[in-house]
Amino acid sequence: MLLDAPIDRIAAGRIIPPRPVEKKVAAASVVRSSQAALPDISQALAQARVLAAGAVNLEALAAAIASFDGCPLKFAGAATQAVVYRGVPDAVLMVIGDGPGQDEDRQGQPFAGRAGQLLDKMLAASGLAERVLMTNTVFWSAPGDRPPTPQQQAVCAPFLERAIALVKPKMLLLVGGAPAQALLKTEDGILSLRGRWHAWRSADGTIELPAMPTLHPAFLLRQPAAKKRVWADLLTLTERLDRPERP
Ligand code: URA
Repeated sequence: MLLDAPIDRIAAGRIIPPRPVEKKVAAASVVRSSQAALPDISQALAQARVLAAGAVNLEALAAAIASFDGCPLKFAGAATQAVVYRGVPDAVLMVIGDGPGQDEDRQGQPFAGRAGQLLDKMLAASGLAERVLMTNTVFWSAPGDRPPTPQQQAVCAPFLERAIALVKPKMLLLVGGAPAQALLKTEDGILSLRGRWHAWRSADGTIELPAMPTLHPAFLLRQPAAKKRVWADLLTLTERLDRPERP
């Protein structure tokens, strides 16, 4: 019941605790300031979508990527050119790495360095060498060969999705934590993701493909004992790839 006159509850011996207004304000300002810290990628993303959608084949896509100025890596000082893809255009398997390094930047092709040579050997031994197309989540090398950030991957994602739509592979091999987390939209680590089938879906939901995460070949160069896990993953992959399709 509302009274006509206020009651002085302190004087009446009842202390009402103050409402936690300050805390609420502080929490809201933390959210605002962390949002403000993230770069606004909406314009770059919109431009990437338009450019990617206009590419009718892989050559046109590579040209569109080279013309795109929305990924900060292009201007971060390490990249001399866009590194887009290598392999057969009608590949049954797309191999997706994190991003080109210095060797790839020099040669203009993904997985051109020592890690790539090891990956090539493993794919050849699995009978996949002539059946793959390799690309990355970003298309410019980073200073210090740092892994790409989620924002850099996000602005490049329309190009990667367009590459997948053009190639129409049967499945994806995601090498390393950065591509696995970006494509599968998870924060789980590569050690828990690898060796199991996951579903990759395009942003517009029109494409769904089986995706196998595995360890990055650069990691295998440092930890050769881990090769057996990648062999196991490739075996799981080829078994599904070569399984006769049910009529
Ligand atoms: N590592 C990658 O993930 N991609 C490359 O192209 C080269 C090294």
